Amino acid sequence: MSGDFLALAQPGVQQLSPYVPGKPVDELARELDIDPATIVKLASNENPLGASPKALAAIRDELAELTRYPDGNGFALKSLLAGRCGVAIEQVTLGNGSNDILELVARAYLAPGLNAVFSEHAFAVYPIVTRAAGAQARVVPAKSWGHDLPAMLGAIDEQTRVVFIANPNNPTGTWFGAEALDEFLQDVPAHVLVVLDEAYIEYAEGSDLPDGLDFLAAYPNLLVSRTFSKAYGLAALRVGYGLSNPVVADVLNRVRQPFNVNSLALAAACAALQDADYLAESRRLNESGMQQLEAGFAALGLRWIPSKGNFVAVDVGCEAAPVFQGLLREGVIVRPVANYGMPNHLRVTIGLPAENTRFLEALAKVLARG
Ligand SMILES: Cc1ncc(COP(=O)(O)O)c(C=O)c1O
Repeated sequence: MSGDFLALAQPGVQQLSPYVPGKPVDELARELDIDPATIVKLASNENPLGASPKALAAIRDELAELTRYPDGNGFALKSLLAGRCGVAIEQVTLGNGSNDILELVARAYLAPGLNAVFSEHAFAVYPIVTRAAGAQARVVPAKSWGHDLPAMLGAIDEQTRVVFIANPNNPTGTWFGAEALDEFLQDVPAHVLVVLDEAYIEYAEGSDLPDGLDFLAAYPNLLVSRTFSKAYGLAALRVGYGLSNPVVADVLNRVRQPFNVNSLALAAACAALQDADYLAESRRLNESGMQQLEAGFAALGLRWIPSKGNFVAVDVGCEAAPVFQGLLREGVIVRPVANYGMPNHLRVTIGLPAENTRFLEALAKVLARG
């Protein structure tokens, strides 16, 4: 008789459900038996611009070296990031996407008997990495869809090792300002590592969203995580980074896979970081696309949660699951967020102008059908 390998998994893992990604274009094309090129995917907060030509050129140059392991220390990318971010190279940790950074933190600092604090409606990976480490997830009720930082402080105890906060948050798009962040950091006990997840920070430049880097020097218990998946347009390559005090970076480095970032990703990230035009165009496109979607929602009489990311959560005024299904039949993929405690919302990534139009037209049609 074979063992019950579900019951044998560690208790935290038994409780987990796998992360549900956005529906792939090819999957819907197969289901509807249509050309994938006709499908609009606005489901995974990807950059609709296509990758930077400079990143693509760097990848082509790197192809000749595919038989070699990547630089396990990621020296070139770490040096560039350190220069850009005004930190020492010892403060940079590279990850296989910023998800990897979140996981490294959990592996290094969480264990049974310990806990991590995060908000209701927060990014789905926080509970996954917390429970996978056998730790308790302390979910603090949100306030107006956003993080209630004072309540999160109240949830911290002697067994808390990590607080995850995303600014802006996914899937709500909500954010907090510099003053609120500073007050929070001042009050978080020294034994708690604050992971400030800034996956969408590049979209918020010039706004009232604080730059986590400004707080690193004052708070040795702060780690800022960022990614090349969003505004830098390299989601498929999986590359992100953490910035922290050197001791935390050293600890994360101990649990990191030896070659966690591949050589194509390293080369492309270096190139993307230096392509200021691409980043500016990504921002411009996002800003105008956000306005387009907001105007479209207003015209349909729908409410949405104001967002600083490259996505927006819209309240469709009824259970969103059938609307999501209706949109799929129109060849438009968005993201249902019932699993985030938001059953009446759909999260929509900002696309190209024509993609946004397709989505808004399909939404109007599906809602009109009732
Ligand atoms: C808030 C937040 N953090 C982290 C990530 C992880 O992104 P990646 O692993 O691609 O860097 C995402 C991706 O959607 C996100 O929304």
